[in-house]
Amino acid sequence: MGTMGRRALYRTRIAGTGSYLPEKVLTNADLEKLVDTNDEWIVERTGIMRRHICADDEVTSDLALYASQKALEAASLTPNDLDMIIVGTVSGDQVMPSTACVLQQKLGCGKIMATDITAACSGFVYGASIADQFIKTGTYKNVLVVGAETLHRIVNYKDRDTCILFGDGAGAAIFTRNEDESDPADILSVHLHAEGSLGDLFRLPGGGSKYPVSQYVLDHNLQYVTMKGREIFKNAVRTMSQCCQEALEANQLSGDDVDWLIPHQANRRIIEAVAKHFDFPSEKVIINVHETGNTSAATVPVAFDEGVRDGRIQRGQMVLMAAFGAGLTSGSLIFRY
Ligand SMILES: CC(C)(COP(=O)(O)OP(=O)(O)OC[C@H]1O[C@@H](n2cnc3c(N)ncnc32)[C@H](O)[C@@H]1OP(=O)(O)O)[C@@H](O)C(=O)NCCC(=O)NCCS
Repeated sequence: MGTMGRRALYRTRIAGTGSYLPEKVLTNADLEKLVDTNDEWIVERTGIMRRHICADDEVTSDLALYASQKALEAASLTPNDLDMIIVGTVSGDQVMPSTACVLQQKLGCGKIMATDITAACSGFVYGASIADQFIKTGTYKNVLVVGAETLHRIVNYKDRDTCILFGDGAGAAIFTRNEDESDPADILSVHLHAEGSLGDLFRLPGGGSKYPVSQYVLDHNLQYVTMKGREIFKNAVRTMSQCCQEALEANQLSGDDVDWLIPHQANRRIIEAVAKHFDFPSEKVIINVHETGNTSAATVPVAFDEGVRDGRIQRGQMVLMAAFGAGLTSGSLIFRY
């Protein structure tokens, strides 16, 4: 279901963005030393050249903090202006409390609502849609949405099927009530989906209540992500293409009306297949997967922030975000920036 036809009291503007990639870089050459792989294979099959890995003393909430501080600065707001914090993550600091609560404390906000969203790589788009609802109904004015991950801590560096793909990072955006009548900025629609029946394709079973931490979990590597790569690939192309199509149809737009597509950055070939699906020119697609690898919930806000900061994404332009992830979750969000 999309969000067309809802009764909106207010419009939603994205007031500022920020991102953070850790300093340490893991190249394909580094991975060649860990598993039976090579740079040529990784680049050809994924487009990934390097990924960033956080320092030993950094945790997900630190990455989230750095990205959030930049987003607040860009929005000319302080932590005290925030009404709610949502963090999309599958690699939070701990099972509980949520990384959003840790972030609230680190930012020094008041006692505002803070919660994590478990939608894997769709976490930012899911979170943004929640922010939009709270703003459109007039409940809240300023909402911080973050996608933050330290995936290298949940990846098995003996498994070449997965370890080449993932990296660490965080991206953040401040969603704000648009009170300026002359400013066309608004989120036009969101379309979110989940297919629980496909949950086995991509998962991390260890550490939950089904497989609590135990010797069994460690012996069977259940503390790491596992994935059926080819199946995920097909479903990623299918779901992201569908979500983009839904967004365009719901708003009676065509690809020509969209200035930028910001897709989840999992694999360059997936992104290219989605763009091809609706004849979207590659020059209008924001891609940074070569630099970051797949940072799950962080890819969309990191790519968004890069596009904003390097001047490609301009105020007034139409932007389409699309994501998919474990669940399988998927979603799109279209907005005038
Ligand atoms: C994982 C992925 C890169 C594999 O690419 P692919 O083109 O589908 O490759 P295949 O799985 O068909 O494997 C081809 C061969 O390469 C081998 N291979 C797998 N990983 C390898 C690696 N890191 N280095 C070298 N060879 C590798 C396979 O064993 C296979 O060998 P075989 O033909 O002898 O069996 C691709 O399927 C993918 O990106 N899937 C989506 C994963 C994803 O995005 N997950 C996160 C979702 S949010």
